[in-house]
Amino acid sequence: MPPLVLILGGTAEARRLAAALVDEGVPVVSSLAGRVRDPALPAGEVRIGGFGGVAGLAGWLVAHDVAAVVDATHPFASTMTAHAVAACRSVGRPLVVLHRPGWPPEPGWVWADSLDHAVALLPSLGERVFLTTGRTSLAAFAGLDLEFVVRCVDPPTGSLPRRVRVLLDRGPFTVAGERDLLRAYRIDVLVTKDSGGSLTSAKLAAAREEGVRVLVVRRPPLPAGVEAVETVEAARAWLREVNVSAIRR
Ligand SMILES: NC(=O)c1ccc[n+]([C@@H]2O[C@H](COP(=O)([O-])OP(=O)(O)OC[C@H]3O[C@@H](n4cnc5c(N)ncnc54)[C@H](OP(=O)(O)O)[C@@H]3O)[C@@H](O)[C@H]2O)c1
Repeated sequence: MPPLVLILGGTAEARRLAAALVDEGVPVVSSLAGRVRDPALPAGEVRIGGFGGVAGLAGWLVAHDVAAVVDATHPFASTMTAHAVAACRSVGRPLVVLHRPGWPPEPGWVWADSLDHAVALLPSLGERVFLTTGRTSLAAFAGLDLEFVVRCVDPPTGSLPRRVRVLLDRGPFTVAGERDLLRAYRIDVLVTKDSGGSLTSAKLAAAREEGVRVLVVRRPPLPAGVEAVETVEAARAWLREVNVSAIRR
C-alpha cells in the first residue's frame, strides 16, 4: 500500500481535495470533528471525532502510517491547526495548511481582532444584528441587549442573547435571498468571520446594496513556521513535492 494522506476537513476545499486524490488513486482519509449532525461527506474513507489532543493525533499518524497531512479545516478552527502542527512536528510528518483566501476587504468594513473584540464593538454599530459567526460563538454575544437574527446549521445549545431569532440553514446562499432577509428583519449590522470563499459571500453583496454595516472578525494567526497554501491545486502540488506515493499524475 502506498502511504496515506490525512486530510483534516470540514470545508468545501477539503472535500474537493479528497475527491481529487481519490480520483488519482491516492490513499486518503478525511477527518471530521463531528460537530454537524448531517455533514457533507467527502469522497473516500472518512473518520469522525476528535483524536484526543496532540498526543492522540501523533499516535494516530504513526499507527496509520500517515505520510503527509493536509490541514484543510476552517480558518477559524485554530485549536485543530495548532494540534496538527505540534503532532506532525513531534512525529516528523510533513504538514501543509490549506486555507482559502479571506474576502477582499471593502471600504467601510469594521474589523475585530477576535470574537470578544467584535462583542465590544457591536453596540456602537447597530441595534438589529444579523449574526453569522456560527453556533459555537453565540455565547460570546449572550450579554448584549441587541436584537439578534442568528443563522446556523444545527440548533444552538449554549447560552444565547435575550432577544434572538434563530434561523437554521446551510449555504450556499443567494444575494437576492440575503437581501430579503436583511430587509425582513430590518438588519442594520452584519457580523461575520473572514471565512472567505463563495458559499457564504452573498450576504456581503446584499449588505453593500442595502447599506448595512459589516463587522468582520479577523482570522486567528497561523502557528509560526507553518507552510500554507490557498487552493486545492496548490495542496496537490505540495503533496507531489513531498512525494507522497509519487502522487500518480
Ligand atoms: N470554526 C468555524 O468557524 C468553522 C466553520 C465551518 C466549519 N468548521 C469545521 O468544524 C470543525 C470544528 O471546528 P472548531 O472551530 O470547533 O475546531 P477547533 O476549535 O479548532 O477544534 C477543537 C477540537 O475539535 C476536534 N477537531 C476539530 N476539527 C477536527 C477534524 N477535522 N477532525 C477531527 N477532530 C477535529 C479536535 O479535538 P481533539 O483535540 O480531540 O483532536 C480539536 O482539538 C473543523 O473540522 C472545521 O473545519 C469550523
